This record gives sequence, C-alpha cells and structure tokens, in this order.
Amino acid sequence: MSNTPANSTPSSSDTSSTSAGATAATIASTIVGGIVIIVIAIAIIRCIQKNREQARNTSMQTTSESTVNQDSNIDMVTIERFLADIVKERPVRFTAQNIIDFTQNFKQKLGSGGFGIVYKGQFPNGVQIAVKVLHKTQDKRAEEQFMAEIGTIGRTYHINLVRLYGFCFDNSLKALVYEYMEKGSLDRYLFNENQKHKWEKLHEIAIGTAKGIRYLHEECQKKIVHYDIKPGNVLLDANFSPKVADFGLARLCDRDNSHVSMTGGRGTPGYAAPELWMPYPVTHKCDVYSYGMLLFEILGRRRNLILGQAESQEWFPRWIWDKFEGGELESVMLNCGIEHNDREKAERMCKVALWCVQYQPDARPSMNSVVRMLEGEEEIIAPKNPFPYMMPSQWSESRGDSVSTATETNESEENSLIH
Ligand SMILES: Nc1ncnc2c1ncn2[C@@H]1O[C@H](COP(=O)(O)OP(=O)(O)OP(=O)(O)O)[C@@H](O)[C@H]1O
Ligand SMILES: [Mg+2]
Repeated sequence: MSNTPANSTPSSSDTSSTSAGATAATIASTIVGGIVIIVIAIAIIRCIQKNREQARNTSMQTTSESTVNQDSNIDMVTIERFLADIVKERPVRFTAQNIIDFTQNFKQKLGSGGFGIVYKGQFPNGVQIAVKVLHKTQDKRAEEQFMAEIGTIGRTYHINLVRLYGFCFDNSLKALVYEYMEKGSLDRYLFNENQKHKWEKLHEIAIGTAKGIRYLHEECQKKIVHYDIKPGNVLLDANFSPKVADFGLARLCDRDNSHVSMTGGRGTPGYAAPELWMPYPVTHKCDVYSYGMLLFEILGRRRNLILGQAESQEWFPRWIWDKFEGGELESVMLNCGIEHNDREKAERMCKVALWCVQYQPDARPSMNSVVRMLEGEEEIIAPKNPFPYMMPSQWSESRGDSVSTATETNESEENSLIH
C-alpha cells in the first residue's frame, strides 16, 4: 500500500496542475463575474434609461397635464372671478347702523310713496345712493314688497332698470338701497310747465322705458311683472336716460304659468289695468296697459285726467281715440305742440298707446312688439276701440267678452293684430 501515501500526498506535477486549474477557475469566475457585472450594468443602464424615458414621458405628460391644469386653473380663476362678480352684483345686506351712516342719520329726504320715504345717501367710497326706508306697518304687503324686491331686482341687470345695491332687514329698520338717479322721477318733468323736455327726448324716454319692461317680461331669467308702471316709477339719470324703478308689486312667475292670482286691487288708479281691480286673471299684460297710459301722458306732456278741462279733453286717452277714429290725428299733434318732423313718431306713439290700453289683455301687444312699433321696425295696423265699455250699450257685451277672453296670452293672436 506504498501508493497510499503517494496517493495521499500530491506530487509537484499534481500541485502545478491543481494551481493551473485554480487559476483557470479564477479566470473563469472573473470572466463570468465580469460578464454578470456587465450584464447587471447593462441592465441597470437600461433600467436607468427606461426610467429616464419614463420620467421624460411622465414629465411630458405632466407638462401637458400641467398645461391643461394651468388652462383649467385659468378657467377656474376666470370662473371664480366671474362668480365673485355675480356675488358682488347681488344685493348686499346692510345693518341699520350702516344705513344711518350712509344717510347721515336720514338727513336728506328725496320723496315719499305708498310704502316708505326715500332718502339720499352715500357709500364710504363716494357712490351716491337712494335709500327707501319702508314704513313700519302691520300691513303684510310692505314686507311682501320688500322680499319681492330683493328677489327680483337683485337678479336683474339692464340699462333701463334701477339697480338695487342692497337692503337692510333689521327689526328696527327695513330699507332698500338703490343707485341714485340724479334727475328724479319722470313725472317731475312731464307735468311741470317750467321743465318741459324736447319731444325727441321724451320719445327716447318712452322707448327706454319700454325696453326696461320688455327685459322684465321677456329677457330676464324669470318673467317679472311690475304691476305699477307709472311716471313716478320711471327715474332719470344725469343724462335723462330712463330706468324703471320699484318692483314693489312684482311677483316672480314662471314662463310656463303666466297667470298670477291676485287678491285685492293693486297698482295705481289711472294706470292699473282693469283686470287688476276686477276678479279676472292677471298677466304681464297689465304692465302693457299701464305703459299705454304712460305713453299718452308722454305724448301730451300732461296728466291723462285733468278735471275741469274742456270736457272732451278731461280724459286724454279717450279724446285721442275719438280723434283717431275721426281721422283727426293732426289736431292731436297740434294740440300736443308736436313739430312737423316729429309727427310720424308721434302718430306711431298714439297708435301704440291705443293698442296697449285695449280692454282685453290678449289684444294688447307684447312689450317686444311695442318697442319694435315705436322704433318703426314693425308696421302698426289701425287699433280698435279700447274703450267700448264707455258706451253704455256696449258695456255688458264688453264685460262678458273679457270674462271669457282674458285668459292665457296668445302670442299668435297677438301677432295677428300687428303686421
Ligand atoms: N333711486 C332713486 N334716485 C333718486 N330719487 C329717487 C329714487 N327712488 C325714489 N326717488 C325719489 O323719491 C320719490 C318717492 O319715491 P317712491 O317710490 O317712494 O314713491 P312713488 O314712486 O311716488 O310711489 P310708489 O310707492 O307707488 O312707488 C320719487 O318720486 C323720486 O323723486
Ligand atoms: Mg316709486
């Protein structure tokens, strides 16, 4: 077993072959390791590249998203500003102390009406205002009027409507804060011998007023019936541009449901449509009637009813109808001092007024037609007698008619009257 030790002890050649093998293994493992490292490096590089690419893509996406976001931010900013503006345009609620400060303790009275006293005032920034302090009354109507005004004027904006800036609803004080109208109400100029306006200006006032009412009836979000159109509720700014004021009796009524049940008489005698003081359905056509009465007064620069005038002229609208029926409009022009150049417009005004005050609401034109007719854009056919009930023989017939016909507004019927 002599080989055993030899077997157990490696020879030098064995040792050298072993070390060569180890070297080879080292080299191999180095190569493999190197390859693995390279592969890993490549993988890492690829990974990094991929990440970068992804990052680039993401960043591109983010950029475009952020552009979108930026855009939508712009939109949001615009929208927010817009909303803020809307909020600003809403009437602001003031305290009683605010009102006292604005009016310097109710120093200057501008006038008074059925529901309160109007004072001049000023905001701290110098903007002039008119503050209508409502009477303290048990009459629910004052409060109804107050709430109606807030809800209606506050949501309307038109060049021919008086702007409501704010209100005060306090136990001690209920008030409405309006834009100040420098020249006051139209009646001050219409019926004042010393302040008579040129007819052309009055024609403009008539059209502006009609546009204000048209907006209430046809253009704002919810149809608004005024119920108290009269010269005292047409205010004039520094340039004598008219703005309709006092939506005191206004009620919001849906377009679908143009009828409003009214209890009790409303409006002002002389301007209120028959259906306002009779138990008939009331629609926005009651404003058209009142506007017609106002139009007669603008035309004549006089009140419609002047007791003691030569009898036939005591009630101006009836006198105009008689003249129109008799083909004597020329004498109306002469009587009203209307110059030759203005006659065509004035004749148009006469006819429109006669249409507006028709007894039957359906026979009255819409305010849009009124504006168009006054501006000469719509031809006016000869009006029919608006006052048949004033002839005793026709009174009962006319009354019967109105009961059955004073129903929903029929635009097509309306249009058929006016070509
Ligand atoms: N915004 C305003 N700017 C300037 N003056 C105003 C303003 N509002 C009202 N006035 C003045 O106050 C007066 C009284 O207005 P008020 O509305 O109280 O009465 P009215 O119009 O005569 O009657 P009603 O109570 O039926 O509306 C007006 O005639 C006008 O001279
Ligand atoms: Mg008024």
